[in-house]
Amino acid sequence: MSGKIRAVLCGCGGICKAWLNPIAGFNDIEMVGLVDLNLESAEKIKQEFKLENAVTGTDLKAVLKKAKPDVVFDCTIPLAHPDVTITALKKGCHVLGEKPMAESMKAAQKMVKTADAKKKIYAVIQNRRYMDNIITYRDFIKSGEMGEITTLNADFYIGAHFGGFRDVMKHVLLVDMAIHSFDQARFISGKDPVSVYSQEFNPKGSWYAHGASAIAVFEMTDGVVLTYRGSWCAEGMNTSWECDWRAVGAKGSCLWDGGEKIKGQAASNAEGFFRTQKDFNLPVEKKLVHTGHAGLIREFVDCVKSGGTPQTICHDNIKSLAMVHAAVKSAETGKKIEIKI
Ligand SMILES: NC(=O)c1ccc[n+]([C@@H]2O[C@H](COP(=O)([O-])OP(=O)(O)OC[C@H]3O[C@@H](n4cnc5c(N)ncnc54)[C@H](O)[C@@H]3O)[C@@H](O)[C@H]2O)c1
Repeated sequence: MSGKIRAVLCGCGGICKAWLNPIAGFNDIEMVGLVDLNLESAEKIKQEFKLENAVTGTDLKAVLKKAKPDVVFDCTIPLAHPDVTITALKKGCHVLGEKPMAESMKAAQKMVKTADAKKKIYAVIQNRRYMDNIITYRDFIKSGEMGEITTLNADFYIGAHFGGFRDVMKHVLLVDMAIHSFDQARFISGKDPVSVYSQEFNPKGSWYAHGASAIAVFEMTDGVVLTYRGSWCAEGMNTSWECDWRAVGAKGSCLWDGGEKIKGQAASNAEGFFRTQKDFNLPVEKKLVHTGHAGLIREFVDCVKSGGTPQTICHDNIKSLAMVHAAVKSAETGKKIEIKI
């Protein structure tokens, strides 16, 4: 496919600006349609981003018919993702959609099947893979300098007052947020999930209706253990949105605060109760031309043009989603759950 890619964006709420800002800087994407259940939201975005040629509407099918796009960007709420994605795929469009794929594995599997049947790309926004620091951290762990990874700990403590769909959503932390952290854990460790035991709770003082906090222990492939402790209603001493990480290897450990700070140590001798520790030298390497949403949108559009496969293709991303739904099932049943994709 050559020339400009025609795109329709569905869901003109909070996150859509994180898409339209970078898109404005890509001269090979033409926004030809905007859809929202609330027409005013679509019109407002049309004006703000000066998208004079974009068709607006409340019904995706009708806008697709008029705008004839190559791709659909799904920025709707999680509950709407299956319908929006399947409608777009069936109309012959490639889809890049917001996380999480779906609120159930059954719905996500149907989305993957539809993408396969229609021979279209369906990829998911996991913008945290497109950060310079996570790549430095992942590459260091992969280098083997701290020995083979055995343990990964992720802590997420944020007091976020959103309002809107999250306030009433079931399993809000695990389904709407932990998908990012679980996908990061797969990216950092290079391991896939095997089983999980989790406990979910809505602590005293929570301003969410359900499941604002959770603790989960995953077994990953090659015996790696991943722990996740998270809360979306934690005031004070917040972590970054990207989590606080500790990776332990056979020879050393490495920490990342989710921001600029990465530091690690390993024993430098083989004697004494406590071995002498030497610091790893970990320069933060700037590698990416486009980061976050911009990085993934760029990769997706390049793949649509060249026939390539984005790294967050649905066939891979469903493994991160499986971690979410297994953690939910474990919390609901009180049992350790095997993760089958
Ligand atoms: N990747 C990230 O870092 C990140 C950050 C925030 C939100 N998100 C994700 O983005 C998605 C949207 O979140 P938000 O905060 O923008 O929510 P929001 O409620 O602000 O916006 C969602 C919009 O979608 C519209 N909508 C809902 N169902 C629709 C449908 N069937 N057809 C057309 N429009 C529909 C709503 O009217 C609303 O305007 C969620 O999946 C969320 O998890 C991702």
